[in-house]
Amino acid sequence: MGGAKDLIIRVGGEGGEGIISSGDMVAQAAVRSGLEVLTFKTFPAEIKGGYAMYQTRFSHEKILSEGSGFDVMCAFNQEALDVNVPLLREGNVLIYDYPGGDIAEEQSIPGVTCYPAPMSKIAKEDIGTYRAKNMVALGVISELFSISIDSIREIIDLKFGRKGKEVVEINNRGLNAGIAHVKNNLKKTDPYKMDPGKPSSDVMVISGNEAIGLGALLAGVEFFSAYPITPATEIANFLARHLPKFNGTLVQAEDEIASLANVIGASYGGAKSMTATSGPGLSLMQELIGMATMMEVPVVIADVQRGGPSTGLPTKHEQSDLFLAAHGCHGDGSKVVLSPEGVEDCIYMTVEAFNIAEKYQVPVLILSDGSLGFRTNSIKVPDPSKIKTVAREKYSASGDGSLFQRYQHTGSSVSPMSIPGQAGGCYISTGLEHAESSAPKYTSDNRTAMIDKRFDKLDDLEDFFSETEADNQDGAQLGLIAWGSTIGTVREAVALAREAGYKVSALYPKLVWPLPLKALESFGAKHSKILIPEINKQAQLARIIQSETDIKPVSYNIYGGMPFSPDMIVEKIKEVI
Ligand code: COA
Repeated sequence: MGGAKDLIIRVGGEGGEGIISSGDMVAQAAVRSGLEVLTFKTFPAEIKGGYAMYQTRFSHEKILSEGSGFDVMCAFNQEALDVNVPLLREGNVLIYDYPGGDIAEEQSIPGVTCYPAPMSKIAKEDIGTYRAKNMVALGVISELFSISIDSIREIIDLKFGRKGKEVVEINNRGLNAGIAHVKNNLKKTDPYKMDPGKPSSDVMVISGNEAIGLGALLAGVEFFSAYPITPATEIANFLARHLPKFNGTLVQAEDEIASLANVIGASYGGAKSMTATSGPGLSLMQELIGMATMMEVPVVIADVQRGGPSTGLPTKHEQSDLFLAAHGCHGDGSKVVLSPEGVEDCIYMTVEAFNIAEKYQVPVLILSDGSLGFRTNSIKVPDPSKIKTVAREKYSASGDGSLFQRYQHTGSSVSPMSIPGQAGGCYISTGLEHAESSAPKYTSDNRTAMIDKRFDKLDDLEDFFSETEADNQDGAQLGLIAWGSTIGTVREAVALAREAGYKVSALYPKLVWPLPLKALESFGAKHSKILIPEINKQAQLARIIQSETDIKPVSYNIYGGMPFSPDMIVEKIKEVI
């Protein structure tokens, strides 16, 4: 990448101008050239207007996070320029829509290579439509940084083919005009270019949301019901396209309460079932999560976190639903919360969520987040033959005429489930406390035993799901604990801090409720200082860990709607050490 290990290209402008499409197409082209890609996008909650940004990081090596800053900025308007000029660093490149667009002045910034490109003017005057502005930009970017033009043309066909031949033709003309502008008017003086890698048929580009949908298919999901909500809707969109091919059923419900009720009913009926939502929807689901807990019905709930409370920041990143996921619902309810670290992990964590739900007959929540849900990443195509799925323990009649005891106390505290209509397997399932037979029962002894049963069944969870990776370094001055998409950033920060001579360890729990106490206690015993960076105000994981273990962490919290960058974590590591 022009000598550097990787390259980050950021495109910014007004929502509705096709910023997301142009960024996405750069990413797709890079993958076709055999590069690793990880993207980040952020846009306003409005359909049109406001600042939208799409960033693509390319590398020949595995990419763990969005990265720190960017190398190339393409500003479609004055707002994008105003937001990003203060972030420019020595050696960066700025491409900007000038003259004839929204940007008022020619730019000259010490240490920064500035390329004016009249994208609006070319689109309107030469192509005849402002809509083609993003393709002019794409032409400029492709020509300047040697992105394969053939790949871009293929992607234009794929993306806009459904909109008609004329749209494809206009976009190709826009692309050509951008290329011509660079050839005729600009002299490349920056060092960046995208050296192609080795294209592989084993690689796919997929978003975190789509990966959750794919994981559900690999786990054998049979029923999905959801109500659309940003940033989770794409999970439903993906499954709406693909679940019917596997004879599954998808129901768009009238709200989140109904969607989880549908899922509980389908699972009660024997089907592997799932819903997906975001914070406001998860709030609405609390009563039904309690019901699934009481009924001991396996359900999987993906929560793609966004800025809350209330409608909050619908399109922005936050990790602030952990308290709700772990401690929501009234009463004492047992449930499990997993948190994937990246796009590929979304696939496998979703499979695990189904496995845990079916094995322990509990609600399992997958806490993804806005950054991860919207992120696209080049990942290895999963091999379905390597996916291990777990089936729930089914009831089979003994034949001696004894009544089915749905909530029978067993050695594992998990009781076999029948399905409606199964001979001898008749039972009632409600939100009421019940006897082993399932009939309502409120005696003190029964109540105590049943609550214990619902918690005891999770006693061996940490052994069944042992996905807590400890990256220990001898003589570590500091240990970090990270969860969710912050893990990738921390992995990168740990590597950078070690390169700079600091001794740091890290623990990456994917099980965030109930806590993996053995792994945490062992990590805590090795490190006198522990730092937990999280994207929330209340230091949610840190507080839960502090209340359940002897660890007294130092918290590092940001909550401005954006993820951490590796540099931010490195600075904090230095400060805490
Ligand atoms: N030629 C033809 N069509 C083009 C085009 C071109 N050159 N460039 C873009 N488009 C189309 C895209 O295909 C897309 O259409 P589609 O939806 O049919 O696929 C549309 O124009 C928007 O372009 P896109 O690049 O995807 O987005 P953008 O950068 O213009 O930003 C958003 C628009 C994404 C910010 C905005 O539409 C959005 O979704 N906002 C968030 C809404 C939300 O979730 N709110 C929260 C509610 S709680």
